[in-house]
Amino acid sequence: MKNVVLEELKKIDLFKKDPGLTKEQVKAAFKQALNKIDEHLEEFTYKFPGSSSENNVYPSVENNHEWTTGFWTGILWIAYEVTGDEKYREVADIHVKSFEKRIDEKLGLNHHDLGFLYTLSCISAYKITGSEVAKNSAIKAADHLITRYQDKAGIIQAWGDFSDPNQRGRMIIDCNMNLPLLYWASEVTEDPKYKQIAKSHIEQAAKYIVREDASTYHTYYIDTETGEPRFGKTHQGYSDDSCWSRGQAWGIYGFPLSYIYTKDEELLDLTKKVSNYFLNRIPEDNICYWDLIFTDGDEPRDSSAAAIAISGLMELAKWLPKDDEMREIYMNASKYMLKSLIEKYTTKDVPESNGLLLHGVYSKPGNTGVDECNIWGDYYYMESLVRVLKDWELYW
Ligand code: GLY
Repeated sequence: MKNVVLEELKKIDLFKKDPGLTKEQVKAAFKQALNKIDEHLEEFTYKFPGSSSENNVYPSVENNHEWTTGFWTGILWIAYEVTGDEKYREVADIHVKSFEKRIDEKLGLNHHDLGFLYTLSCISAYKITGSEVAKNSAIKAADHLITRYQDKAGIIQAWGDFSDPNQRGRMIIDCNMNLPLLYWASEVTEDPKYKQIAKSHIEQAAKYIVREDASTYHTYYIDTETGEPRFGKTHQGYSDDSCWSRGQAWGIYGFPLSYIYTKDEELLDLTKKVSNYFLNRIPEDNICYWDLIFTDGDEPRDSSAAAIAISGLMELAKWLPKDDEMREIYMNASKYMLKSLIEKYTTKDVPESNGLLLHGVYSKPGNTGVDECNIWGDYYYMESLVRVLKDWELYW
């Protein structure tokens, strides 16, 4: 693996101390999230919340929308696992049928985000209930995802048609989160092809998307004829050479997920470097701006990037050797961020909102969902809470 800098943590003295986030506080936050979910369960039974809110209210969309409908289903599975209340399972089971239709009819699936969609809706369902419909739908999703593999480039192309010069050979950091679908598919089918593709992709991401200073490009092009690296380019970040906060968070969570299935220790090493870069650029209240080029001032925060990073750091800490002092430091850092989200970023005092977390950003350059709730932020917030509340088995 190439040489990547490990920055020293600037807030190491703070992160050595426990932030004093109590289980009672987390339980209360979870209860408050459940109240919001309950208020909108009926509205989002046959429809789904959109990707991001408008004035903190999600519109309802069909299950052919973008890459994001599975997050609401994932929220319901977490609610079911924690409470045992059948009302969440009933709605989530309805969603599983909807996801079966989505993959059978290929509704809005000309992209690589099958992992986001099917891990949280169907692998979760299969793990919790043993549903065969869910299992088969997720395998079909994995089959569809590997059709995007470019073998000479060794990557899964993120978006669009293979003939489109703007998209050909383009991989993106977000795809780290789509790979667990492939590892899982190899396990359940006993066919190694899915895992081989996932391994090839994560190795290319580690080599080319991560820069030598441990920041990340959002997207990177590889020549699909020669396999030669071409160049990095942003899509949702501030500039091609800045570091988009959510992209860095996808790295913090996605590299350890590939470690779980490959046991490649270098992925954990790399995650530490990517994590330190992120943690060294969070402001006073520990919630990042939408791009890590900003470390103070009035730019919008991205609470969703913080929520992803919290879950990712908790996962990283789990896999570090028991005698590695960074285990505790990453756990503490993640709890400082979670405390801040609970205390200052939830919709608890915004009764008209049907979301959970305020102050996310979908795309600042695209002027979409800026300073709004976004549904993946809500999901990762729930995941962060459940990780503190119980010994939670990953859907990823
Ligand atoms: N995966 C797309 C995003 O993070 O906006």
